[in-house]
Amino acid sequence: MTITPPAAEQLRDAWDALAAGYDAHVTPLTRRLARDLLDRVDPRPGMDLLDVAAGTGAVSVMAAQAGARVVAVDHAPQMIERLRARARAEDLSNLDGRVMDGHALDLPDETFDVAVSLHGVALFPDVDRGLAELARVTRPGGKVVIGAFGPFHKVEPFGFVAGAMKAAIPGFTPPPKDPPPLPFQLADLDVLRRKLADAGLSAVAADTTTWDMPFESAAQFWTTFASANPAWGQMTAGLTDQERAQVQQVLDGMFRERSGGGPKAVIHTEVNLAVGTK
Ligand SMILES: C[S@@+](CC[C@H](N)C(=O)[O-])C[C@H]1O[C@@H](n2cnc3c(N)ncnc32)[C@H](O)[C@@H]1O
Repeated sequence: MTITPPAAEQLRDAWDALAAGYDAHVTPLTRRLARDLLDRVDPRPGMDLLDVAAGTGAVSVMAAQAGARVVAVDHAPQMIERLRARARAEDLSNLDGRVMDGHALDLPDETFDVAVSLHGVALFPDVDRGLAELARVTRPGGKVVIGAFGPFHKVEPFGFVAGAMKAAIPGFTPPPKDPPPLPFQLADLDVLRRKLADAGLSAVAADTTTWDMPFESAAQFWTTFASANPAWGQMTAGLTDQERAQVQQVLDGMFRERSGGGPKAVIHTEVNLAVGTK
């Protein structure tokens, strides 16, 4: 099967439609990873921090809680609505959510001490333009931080779903890995380093971290996976109810194997984290 990248507006609408599920299921799981990313820049009072493709605020809320003045942008209005609701609930007047395309930020040059994007520009159809925009709005001496999936075989959620689909659906073929689907375009650390350098950043350092995701059950994993990216929905969209039930049954077996018999499992994902200086 192939996963065709949709046009910009379709993509925005698809993310918009996922916002409620993303906020409920994915953002809470992303906090540990957000902490790892923010440890690299130490957000604090007096710092201006931009979060591009912020989703519902896993990174932004934490940075604002640490005292930074945060601007969070996302092209999906529903994501920003939910991010603003989180800011209100936490009483964070220093977190400003704005609807904006990360390919063309409506922000002045050299405005932020730090610009971050976690699983954000890494998904853009024009990743180079997204990185150049992050570099443009960062002050000289400031930092740009990128988080992106590692290689396909080290991102277990896909392995689990592709494995379950293969086992349950005769004739299922997983999406091709060459060229890599958009979420994997920065999976190679050398490519990631080179692209940050090409965006005009210096002293680029990139390493990997492991993102652990604890799930109560295979059913919870399935719901989370379906909310995490419109492309994954595309992968499972054609299933009949019966096929879906079969895939979930296989996943349940995989969870029990992982955990030594119980329904819960911790699923791991390798994530590349890169920092460059303007
Ligand atoms: C996987 S989510 C990551 C959200 C958040 N950074 C996190 O780690 O939880 C990807 C986000 O990128 C946003 N996005 C995708 N393309 C974008 C674009 N061109 N401009 C701005 N946001 C975009 C989506 O709306 C979605 O909220």
